[in-house]
Amino acid sequence: MPVTQFATKEKYRYQNGFGSHFESEAVEGTLPIGHNNPQKPPYGLYAEKLSGTAFTAPRHLNKQTWLYRVLPSCAHPPYAPAEKTAAANGVDGAALDEGASKLHYIPNQLRWDPFDHNEAHDLDFVSGLRLVAGAGDATLKSGLGMYIFTAGKSMDEHSAFYSADGDLLIVAQEGDLDIRTEMGWLLVRQMEIAVIPRGVKYQVRLPNGAARGYALELYEGHFQLPELGPIGSNGLANARDFQAPVASFDDDAGPTASAGGGKYTVTVKFNNTLFATTQAHTPFDVVGWQGNYYPYKYDLGRFSAIGTISFDHPDPSIFTVLSAPTASPGTAVADFVIFPPRWLVGEDTFRPPWYHRNTMAEFMGLICGGYDAKKGGAGGFVPGGASLHNVMSGHGPDADSHEGAREADLKPVKVGTGSCAFMFETCLMVGVTEWGLRTCKKVQEGYSEESWGGVLTHWKRPEDKPVRSHLLE
Ligand SMILES: [Fe+2]
Repeated sequence: MPVTQFATKEKYRYQNGFGSHFESEAVEGTLPIGHNNPQKPPYGLYAEKLSGTAFTAPRHLNKQTWLYRVLPSCAHPPYAPAEKTAAANGVDGAALDEGASKLHYIPNQLRWDPFDHNEAHDLDFVSGLRLVAGAGDATLKSGLGMYIFTAGKSMDEHSAFYSADGDLLIVAQEGDLDIRTEMGWLLVRQMEIAVIPRGVKYQVRLPNGAARGYALELYEGHFQLPELGPIGSNGLANARDFQAPVASFDDDAGPTASAGGGKYTVTVKFNNTLFATTQAHTPFDVVGWQGNYYPYKYDLGRFSAIGTISFDHPDPSIFTVLSAPTASPGTAVADFVIFPPRWLVGEDTFRPPWYHRNTMAEFMGLICGGYDAKKGGAGGFVPGGASLHNVMSGHGPDADSHEGAREADLKPVKVGTGSCAFMFETCLMVGVTEWGLRTCKKVQEGYSEESWGGVLTHWKRPEDKPVRSHLLE
């Protein structure tokens, strides 16, 4: 079935396509025809441009959107550190930057138990975001951050959040996310992902209780669909399956256009530090928009997985959903890769992932079900948990999985039914935050020893064949 059967029914209209130039009007006639910035935009709206690339970026990379809104975004009092604003206004201050300034770089394989909800009851999406690992520097627009979130309540209906640090790819793992953005609404459920571009304001509501998931923030560039090469023009994630919102707005402009002390709290993540302000007018006042810089979502169940129909399985890059390239050809600062349900048919092939040491670092999570190369259950790789195999750190199937696969009957077999693991992969060496390494108390002691300490030696030196000397005679 090439779509996910969701427990929660879809409730929004969308525009379908990846990287498209869309336009959407919540009121007919909102968008000026033939120009962007008329002397008086329709209906007394303000025109505001949101750029996602330098104005002069090449045309195929250029990203921008024109917003037609009740009031421009600049009409707000100054931002202050979020803790002060929180204290003054009774909203959540967040410890998002806890430990972010110091990353621990360690070569050991790491695995985390599921990040639990216990601490999440009073946290919303923003205050429940935790930086687990990362690389680079948001101020240099270089690198990425890897997050988990555990939220127990909706963001306040008068609040909005945006990140000046990067585009955020959200992987819903448990619970539904009803995301209101400046460009409209996205319903994001387990097995769906969303990408919120840098600068776009949004608010995350939890219509069905607590939510948990993962997120990747891209400090540089934007996600693209991977090149398909000899695969041709279809396959993997198809462009038409990405969904962007349609315009939806409120028009509470407040008592005066620029009055301070209003009821709308806007929080910004700026160099991994939270600042907040309160303004009189709603940030969700965009009546129409047109452009190619917008949030979108994607159902992972629509991914067309491709693999061998003869022998040996291809590199896992064949499972790339979205990729953010560096200037080095074929090398990604971030790949988002999934391991969805699929058939394995390779003849005379060790079917789980081979043992490997990669130049890339791999942060993995499990959305649901079990992963075929790792044991599940308590202390294993389970939904809501994670693992990190850093640059050049060896890993592969655990000993039991290896022994099982070594003796398996190689008939066609479907793996991963009811399951989906994913990977945030980067060419950068990944550091782990203090929160990720210690504070969260989820790191599994003895993961490496337990997984590979028991790998069996199968080597038997053939007695009828002498060992060739490497020395010259
Ligand atoms: Fe790996």
